[in-house]
Amino acid sequence: MVNLSVEFCGVKFENPSVLASGILGVTASSLKNVVRNGAGGVTTKSIWLEEHPGHKNPTMLGTDKWFLNAVGLSDAGAAKAVEETFPEYNKNKKAPIIANIVETSAERFAKLTEQIDKCEPDIIELNLGCPNVEDAHGKPFACVAADAATVVKACRDRTGRPLVVKLTPNVANIASVAEACAKAGADGFCAINTLYGMAINIDLRRPVLANKSGGLSGPGIKPSAVKAVYDIYRATGLPIIGTGGIMTGEDAIEIMMAGARLVGMGTMVYYRGAEGFGKVVKEMVEWCDKNGVKSLEEIIGCAQEA
Ligand SMILES: Cc1cc2nc3c(=O)[nH]c(=O)nc-3n(C[C@H](O)[C@H](O)[C@H](O)COP(=O)(O)O)c2cc1C
Repeated sequence: MVNLSVEFCGVKFENPSVLASGILGVTASSLKNVVRNGAGGVTTKSIWLEEHPGHKNPTMLGTDKWFLNAVGLSDAGAAKAVEETFPEYNKNKKAPIIANIVETSAERFAKLTEQIDKCEPDIIELNLGCPNVEDAHGKPFACVAADAATVVKACRDRTGRPLVVKLTPNVANIASVAEACAKAGADGFCAINTLYGMAINIDLRRPVLANKSGGLSGPGIKPSAVKAVYDIYRATGLPIIGTGGIMTGEDAIEIMMAGARLVGMGTMVYYRGAEGFGKVVKEMVEWCDKNGVKSLEEIIGCAQEA
């Protein structure tokens, strides 16, 4: 039988499935529940320095092919993570935890990195999908290579832990953004965050979400995620958490063939529940056994050779 364990930035995962940021990742008990259901690791919802309000309802719309959300990165702030979430999760820890953080300037990102480092996460993930100023016209850091690199450099100076950069697919050339982050000291990547999306209720003649537009995730975005992972792996060779539209064991195998070392899943929970993690892992085992794969090292990035 295949051995599904993988090492990512020196951290051992029993299997490559990881809860993506923003879904069930608010409390220690919900994170632990995902691990009980078979996930190899978990990611927290994006943590801010201070409490951050989200958008007004409705914030979500799901169909059988895609999912649209404008939750708006609501969060209770770093104090809750430091005092409650991490101490509670780290008691009898059963799987690695990735702390996903977000802020609006390099200085604030650096300060937050220092605080979160003390919580002893296995990996720190910088969500660079957020605008670089507190108004509607700010560009997400990950849209400009130099801006992304500035944040990475500032955070690199504040932690010795593995630093993963979460990139947005909403750019012309994701590989060049990844290269700039790698030069600034990133250890790996998570790709992708959501694409831009909007849905209109034709009876009401207005957008469905209160925020009008939102982030698109779910089955329909898998090809974008596979291409982003392929391009980042080719450009940097660094470890990647392949995320976006992964619903089944075969989807997970596919994104690993593009170059992913871990597989992030968020919207999958909407379709298959938290139990979906165990099911995806079982499907991966079945595929590997059927295809004579003994270790995932045999398939990570194998499609790059074609
Ligand atoms: C409801 C919801 C909330 C999310 N919140 C966050 C978040 O707080 N931070 C973040 O980096 N990504 C967030 N994401 C993006 C996911 O982590 C993931 O990158 C994206 O949804 C694509 O993967 P999926 O198709 O498996 O969901 C969120 C996604 C959804 C659907």
